[in-house]
Amino acid sequence: MIYQVYVRSFLDSTGDGVGDLAGVRAGLPYLKKLGVDGIWLSPFYPSPQHDHGYDVADYCDVDPLFGDLAEFDLLVGAARRLGVKVLLDIVPNHCSSEHPWFREALAASPGSEARARFHFADGRGPDGDEPPNNWHAMFGGPAWSRVTEADGRPGQWYLHMFTPEQPDWNWRDPEVAAEFDRVLRFWLDRGVDGFRIDVAAGLFKHPELPDSDDPEADARTRDSVNPLAWNQPEVHEVWRRWRSICEDYTERDGFERLLVGEVSVPTAREHAQYVRPDELHQAFFFDLLSAPWDPDAFQKVISEAMQDIAGTGSTVTWVLNNHDQVRTVTRYGEPATEGSGLGAARARAAALLMLALPGAAYIYQGEELGLPEVVDLPDDVLTDPIFHRTGSRARIRDGCRVPLPWSGQASPFGFTSGEESAKPWLPQPEYFAEYATDRALADTRSFWHLYRDGLQLRGTLPQLGEGTLRWLDAPPGVLAFARGDDLVCAVNFGTAPTPAPVSGTPLLASGPCPAGVLPGSTAAWWIGNS
Ligand code: NOJ
Repeated sequence: MIYQVYVRSFLDSTGDGVGDLAGVRAGLPYLKKLGVDGIWLSPFYPSPQHDHGYDVADYCDVDPLFGDLAEFDLLVGAARRLGVKVLLDIVPNHCSSEHPWFREALAASPGSEARARFHFADGRGPDGDEPPNNWHAMFGGPAWSRVTEADGRPGQWYLHMFTPEQPDWNWRDPEVAAEFDRVLRFWLDRGVDGFRIDVAAGLFKHPELPDSDDPEADARTRDSVNPLAWNQPEVHEVWRRWRSICEDYTERDGFERLLVGEVSVPTAREHAQYVRPDELHQAFFFDLLSAPWDPDAFQKVISEAMQDIAGTGSTVTWVLNNHDQVRTVTRYGEPATEGSGLGAARARAAALLMLALPGAAYIYQGEELGLPEVVDLPDDVLTDPIFHRTGSRARIRDGCRVPLPWSGQASPFGFTSGEESAKPWLPQPEYFAEYATDRALADTRSFWHLYRDGLQLRGTLPQLGEGTLRWLDAPPGVLAFARGDDLVCAVNFGTAPTPAPVSGTPLLASGPCPAGVLPGSTAAWWIGNS
């Protein structure tokens, strides 16, 4: 189980209102107590922060906002001593418009080697003032921006599948591939255990960059569905090379390295191609995250994953929350609640379901506290480029990024700890007091204890290790499956109690669960005859 640390919102050691690497180091004992195997750090590299670090200006350094390389080394050392693995977030599809190679490309002329590292092209129309093709960017607006050439005239266009400040690399240029090999080695040499790969179905575009039949599909669905811009066959070659780089390190020191891809592709079958034995070790399977709270929907995505991904000998990587999605407590609630009630009960049940599935599980910071989405942030504090690029229509990603509450009754809830503490970079609502980690640890009924207990059992019960699952007959509205010979997990998606599929008291339950009954919006694990 890997815990996603969204660095700017985890813990601030300098008092500037933004979390940092020293804060992560200070929080390691807390994470160890929770029972995580490793952490994935969101990007902390030098960046103008147009997309909170997913616009990288230097892949081999630390932004002063988050610390420096010396602090990074301390963090890796501390994590190693605690037995916590460290994964970095690597962003190979695009960089920042402040990256030295992009600046060089802007200063160079059309057709130059410097421009070949990106997608520069002449515009269409008599004056070249129409973009080279009709693609739209994922975050809204055209996927092309026009540059001014050295002579002051409007010139070529460059491709950016996200914001204009995130130019896409041209992976058909060998220098780009070689540069990323160097970046990988730079961090592996510093002791990291692997990488979460941003936009891992990206990198290559159709070589001709032709018009798309449905150019706004990506922005409309907020998913990488343009078949000309994503999921090109050449990308698999990159993952084979990165895998072999990781294996070189393993051969040297015996420690496994891990590559986990953010892979968003149309079908589980295509997804499975990214986790072939010589490619990525893991790839997030987002279908569970996007499934509505409905037993048939959950059963369908789990069955597809087991058949098409696990069935090929690979592992399914489950995830219910991350820094791009509305938090489960709110997503499963009706309507957005402050975390009490239905949404929270369902989120707890979903957590037990996920932790019982065969494969890897990732949790996002605050998930272990049952944090709800902050739905009422005022417009003027929102920083998500999607909000700004969609004419303030899409309030999507700030609400799950609000800094964590650690202690106390009022903001900053122990999040920022400098002498003259600045306000957290996003305001924390008053009700965060209920979710502070100190309260969660002290209350055995908290989300925190559910996750901790679930993780402990997951680490010790052989039934929850490798293997598959077997669906069991269950009353309508209930999903039940067995792991191994005798572990049963059941989830009641309805609101009324049903008979439990197994007699006896459960080993662990997401809510009060008397023997023989499975209350509504509750999941439980039993050891017994299935
Ligand atoms: C996926 C990341 O999770 C998201 O936060 C980011 O905005 C895009 N990739 C672009 O890098």
